[in-house]
Amino acid sequence: METPKIGVMDSGIGGLSVLREIHRLLPHHPTLYIADQGHLPYGPRPQAEIQTFTDAIVAHLIELGSVVVVIACNTASAAALEMLRQHYPNVPIVGMEPALKPAAENTRSGVVGVLSTRTTAEGAPYQRLLSRFGTDVRVITQVAPELVQIAEANSQHTPESRIAIEAILRPMLDAGADHIALACTHFPFLAESIQSIAGAGVQIIDPAPAVARQVARVWPADLIPKSAPNTYFTSGNPAAFQFMLKTLIGIEAEVGRISLQAENQI
Ligand code: DGL
Repeated sequence: METPKIGVMDSGIGGLSVLREIHRLLPHHPTLYIADQGHLPYGPRPQAEIQTFTDAIVAHLIELGSVVVVIACNTASAAALEMLRQHYPNVPIVGMEPALKPAAENTRSGVVGVLSTRTTAEGAPYQRLLSRFGTDVRVITQVAPELVQIAEANSQHTPESRIAIEAILRPMLDAGADHIALACTHFPFLAESIQSIAGAGVQIIDPAPAVARQVARVWPADLIPKSAPNTYFTSGNPAAFQFMLKTLIGIEAEVGRISLQAENQI
């Protein structure tokens, strides 16, 4: 019998921004993280493909003892959350959504920016949020796949990356956005650069702490967590992921290679 744990997935290192908050809030709950770097980026992929990938990963997470699953990826949440909840009705599945509500509620300028991937921006969940919370404010949605690559490469401080980040932010900053919702879990790792370009008057919203609180709420109330090491897998390069794990969230751990190829062939 596997130790009950929190299973977390993302296409890459982005979900570590959510994992970091889960570890802060629930330090005694074992976690299992799967990064699907063999298929990164998810953002430009068709919905059906993302559904196939995430379905295989969630099956692994549950098989390995996850009693709560976190889709720590806005793109995968937009493309597959509904399907996953139908497919695995007995396991609570927590997903991400763009933090448009707090941005719209707190803006003073009446303009908010949202940074995301294409799948998230075009997906039904975001369109629903826009019609609920985007009517009285101006929302500038910026699709920014370059930021995913910059975060994966940990290259935010190079001059080229700074120019790219600045170009991505320019339209929302010029429009007067005073809140920027980070609607891709990779982007909190670029928060320092984003804040320094946007200026201190702009509030950057990372939804990870709220997601961690939701994980705490859905952890089965009668289940006392048993201590076990946190585990990490990638479908990409384990050594590269191990380096990022240390660099981004200060964790030194072995990283296993997980093969998701066979399951992903439909
Ligand atoms: N971390 C991701 C997200 O939250 C995905 C980036 C990607 O793979 O394109 O959307």
